[in-house]
Amino acid sequence: MPAPPEATTIKDINGSPEQEAYMKCLIEQLTITPDKLSRICEHFKGEMTKGLNKEGHTLAMIPSYVEGRLTGEEKGNFLALDLGGTNLRVVLVTLEGQGKFKTVSTKARISDTLKTGPMRDLCDYIADCIDTFLTEQGLEDQETELPLGYTFSFPVLQSKINRGTLLTWTKGFSCTGAVGKDPVILLQDALLKKHLPVKVTALVNDTVGTLLSNAYNKPDTIAGLILGTGSNGAYIEQMDKIGKWQGGKTAFPEMIINMEFGAFDNERVVLPLTRYDNKLDRESINPHSQIFEKLISGMYLGEIVRNVLTDMMDRELLFQRSEGFDAKTASKEISVQWGFETSYMSNIEDDSTSNLSRTKEVLDTNLSIQNASETDCRIIKRVCELVGTRAARLAGCAIAAIVQHCGVNEKGADIGIDGSLYEFYPSFEKRTYQAISELMPEYPDITKVVRLGLARDGSGVGAALCACVAARMEDIKSKA
Ligand code: BGC
Repeated sequence: MPAPPEATTIKDINGSPEQEAYMKCLIEQLTITPDKLSRICEHFKGEMTKGLNKEGHTLAMIPSYVEGRLTGEEKGNFLALDLGGTNLRVVLVTLEGQGKFKTVSTKARISDTLKTGPMRDLCDYIADCIDTFLTEQGLEDQETELPLGYTFSFPVLQSKINRGTLLTWTKGFSCTGAVGKDPVILLQDALLKKHLPVKVTALVNDTVGTLLSNAYNKPDTIAGLILGTGSNGAYIEQMDKIGKWQGGKTAFPEMIINMEFGAFDNERVVLPLTRYDNKLDRESINPHSQIFEKLISGMYLGEIVRNVLTDMMDRELLFQRSEGFDAKTASKEISVQWGFETSYMSNIEDDSTSNLSRTKEVLDTNLSIQNASETDCRIIKRVCELVGTRAARLAGCAIAAIVQHCGVNEKGADIGIDGSLYEFYPSFEKRTYQAISELMPEYPDITKVVRLGLARDGSGVGAALCACVAARMEDIKSKA
């Protein structure tokens, strides 16, 4: 029998009656009960089936053109490019077989100007980074073109393993001249202009890459997830379940599907959205889209917490200790959109000191709030806990839906996960497992059946593996 959801008692806030009343109401809004979780999971599975059968559904369920399974014996040198989070990464991957690999990589920050300017500028910048990297590695004068796996972590409707059309931007990107275009062609043009000996042979979503990198040494891998700045999942589907497939006969009976589950419930049928979530959505650059992603990802959780805290400040329920102190004007930082980062939540949730001194330090150092009382800190910690727990439970719901959709056999299922929330956020994994076990109560020890694990460098090694699969598929086709 799974344990009940993590206790969210308000006893230990020890606040004024008004603070206690506010927290009680907040707990009700942000707690996803087992019942609610199960309703969301059922809806999620229904949406998966819809998306598999017809284009244009909220869960896009995009066929990745990656067919069949890995053998673990894939070998060779590949370049990988990772675009989609805070940094751009260029990686040289040597696949050695037997699930082993080596990587050398370089990282560059993508400025907000590049994220929101013309796509051509972004591609020129990427080509420059690849150029510098090739020179550093002594590969600039290669006779034969190096195959490159391009991890482009946005919703792309694929038409081949190295072709696709960008449907929309997410995660704060909004470059002009890219939506409706093929990201591979745009990049290849920039590479050609610089005469670089590189050919983009695979276009990969980061979740697909994560699945592949996990599968390279865990053959029972059925899915890959990203729980980081953004969120999404990919899993292995039977071709005969992809009703909308129009790509003709495939060489293998299975294909990886990029679910684009960040968009789940954009129509707001089942997710228990609060006014704090609605405020975030309304003020984001992509209102009404990526609703699920906005409840579970690193880019957004801090902002939800900020929305709660500023509301409490406006009602004079926080930071009221010193007389004459006006919290609204004292901390400019907390009044600014995105002013409360998800990493602050991690640090606050991690605070086990009896007087919450680390929480005080986070508030002081990052938000110039010096007058927080212990009650304030307890409230803030509880708000972080509520928002963080809700995120982990919803992520667990997505995982349970995938596992139930695929069916569990006696070997169980490995799920590779990458992303800062999963890797660093305190208790995230524990809370995710808790939700999965509530949804799959028939398994007394869920961790043996659904094995979550940190996937190693999905966007680098995974992209290289995808480039390798692309070469294998080319080979099969040329012999057919
Ligand atoms: C994108 C997905 C991506 C996910 C994780 C989402 O915003 O739409 O394509 O896999 O972020 O990076």
